[in-house]
Amino acid sequence: MSSSASTDILVANNLNKTYTQRTGRLGLSSNKIKALDNVSLRLRAGSTLAVVGESGSGKSTLARCLLQLLPLDGGEVLFQGQNLAKLSGEALRQERRHLQMIFQDPFASLNPRMNVGDIVGEGLLIHKLGNAAQQREQVVKMLERVGLTAADTKKYPHQFSGGQRQRIGIARALVLEPKVVICDEPVSALDVSIQAQILLLLKSLQQEMSLSYLFISHDLRVVSISRTILP
Ligand SMILES: Nc1ncnc2c1ncn2[C@@H]1O[C@H](COP(=O)(O)OP(=O)(O)OP(=O)(O)O)[C@@H](O)[C@H]1O
Ligand SMILES: [Mg+2]
Repeated sequence: MSSSASTDILVANNLNKTYTQRTGRLGLSSNKIKALDNVSLRLRAGSTLAVVGESGSGKSTLARCLLQLLPLDGGEVLFQGQNLAKLSGEALRQERRHLQMIFQDPFASLNPRMNVGDIVGEGLLIHKLGNAAQQREQVVKMLERVGLTAADTKKYPHQFSGGQRQRIGIARALVLEPKVVICDEPVSALDVSIQAQILLLLKSLQQEMSLSYLFISHDLRVVSISRTILP
């Protein structure tokens, strides 16, 4: 129906992706792994869509393909009705700002050689949003919003716990005020005691910033907690 279709902010139609792995000592043979087999989904604006699958089922591949970080073999991704694969250069860069990702592993996904201010501010710099003083102010505001402080901008990722690192990852994604956030197992690397805090934070940010979430998990327990927490 056209009325419901108009509120779909992200649509994927028949996505296909196969990896080819070289095998054997000389790499002469190859192994094909079908990671996405005709995957389709619709994410409605302002809502959360959960994608659940066991380990290795292609969830992170789906996330990367949705964000055009990985080329598809087939299918199309529409963001606000626009086919992202047809965009390039400046137009793609502009849309990318609105599609952000929170990564599975808060230990691997933060550059250990960059301080937190630079990690969170990098997107503002790339997208040329505001001058240096405004960017610093925006970074501090976002860090405070996720439960960190202005003093943390000078620190490095190794000085933080897993939960705090995931807060940094959330700040990095949300400082750009995106419309869609792909949360790729955002709490699976964290202690159970910390998971609910992060899910609650994601929920309040969703409401405040009118975010649409694609929530990826291998854990139905996390999805059912987030179902009571996320709309
Ligand atoms: N770059 C790659 N080259 C070859 N095979 C890959 C590559 N990345 C992933 N795969 C394979 O594709 C399949 C899907 O991987 P993917 O990481 O998307 O799964 P996942 O559902 O995110 O898994 P997890 O729950 O472990 O995060 C797996 O069999 C994986 O081994
Ligand atoms: Mg994964």
